[in-house]
Amino acid sequence: MYNSKITGLGYYVPDNIVTNADLTKMMDTSDEWIQERTGIQERRWIVEGSEDTSSVMGAKASRIAIERAGLTKDDIDFIIFATLSPDYYFPGGGVQLQEMLDLKTVGALDVRNQCSGFVYSLSVADQFIKTGMYKNILVVGAEFHSGGLDKTDRGRGVTVIFGDGAGAAILSRCEDNNKGILSSHLFSEGKHAQELTVISPSIKHWVPAILAANDESDESYFPYMNGTFVFKHAVVRFSEAIVAGLQANSLQASDINMLIPHQANLRISQFVQKKFGLRDDQVYNNIMKYGNTTAASIIIALSEAWEKGKIKDNDIVVLAAFGSGFTWGSVIIRW
Ligand code: UT7
Repeated sequence: MYNSKITGLGYYVPDNIVTNADLTKMMDTSDEWIQERTGIQERRWIVEGSEDTSSVMGAKASRIAIERAGLTKDDIDFIIFATLSPDYYFPGGGVQLQEMLDLKTVGALDVRNQCSGFVYSLSVADQFIKTGMYKNILVVGAEFHSGGLDKTDRGRGVTVIFGDGAGAAILSRCEDNNKGILSSHLFSEGKHAQELTVISPSIKHWVPAILAANDESDESYFPYMNGTFVFKHAVVRFSEAIVAGLQANSLQASDINMLIPHQANLRISQFVQKKFGLRDDQVYNNIMKYGNTTAASIIIALSEAWEKGKIKDNDIVVLAAFGSGFTWGSVIIRW
């Protein structure tokens, strides 16, 4: 059995900054409300006419990660791509990365676990490396939310939260069994699927039926979130996922050098920080600048924290996520 470790990181966000003040011109909201309830000050939204899509942004982040890993495109053995906003309904975005990056005809797997997408993807990649099947796996999380949000008063409870962006990691074989991914812990509870969802288009509500109904009040193709319900579950499940990871490795909360929570809401991150008694320098948040970028959020935050020198050799790094499904999980890493 081998271990796997992250050898390269990269992220890309669109240039276009949308502040809370900008949102007040589109819908009935305020900077005070958004900052107080979510911590978000601004987010990036792709401008109309831009070449950027989830796959294009994913490819941009991937090029950085591959170079930083000291690899070339031909060293990549497999692609795992997490997104809820793929360029096409099918095929998934993984094959587009293969084409855009001009990779060999390696396998490409799409992961649909929304906010937990990066944690699930990393866990899957880890298993492939542990068994010796692959040496270097490209793991990407990317979201193009802004194209699918309801930017009217009706959507304000959801739309103000989400941002666009992408992150990429290279997971590589590591001969040192004490380093790299120590364990991962994945969970789901499908009975809450409808609390955070986009219903259409789906086989039950397919495009011709939507068009035929010509119903302007149909909101089924916009994201729906029962915010307070999701929030209450998030704080519990984030904590459970972290505890599962700590226990599996006989670690205490005080052993955590860096916790990178999925950037769902700054209040959720602060709740978790307090629960585990962590100092500000033990938790990394960037939701203030980027909003919630779903499958991209952890990897963008991890890349940024690493770039700022906040993650050092031998550090215990904890990644934790919760989101639609519900799905949640954690990954424990010794850097
Ligand atoms: O990433 C995946 C997981 N996602 C999460 O974990 C998100 C979890 N949920 C949340 O982060 C929060 O529930 C929200 C930020 C979405 C909402 O915050 P909240 O404190 O739960 O607010 P609320 O939904 O209870 O709404 C409070 C009030 C309502 O008005 P009334 O009924 O009290 O008059 C809303 O209509 O705030 C109103 N409201 C807004 N006001 C101004 C909702 N959205 C907005 C808005 N601007 N954008």
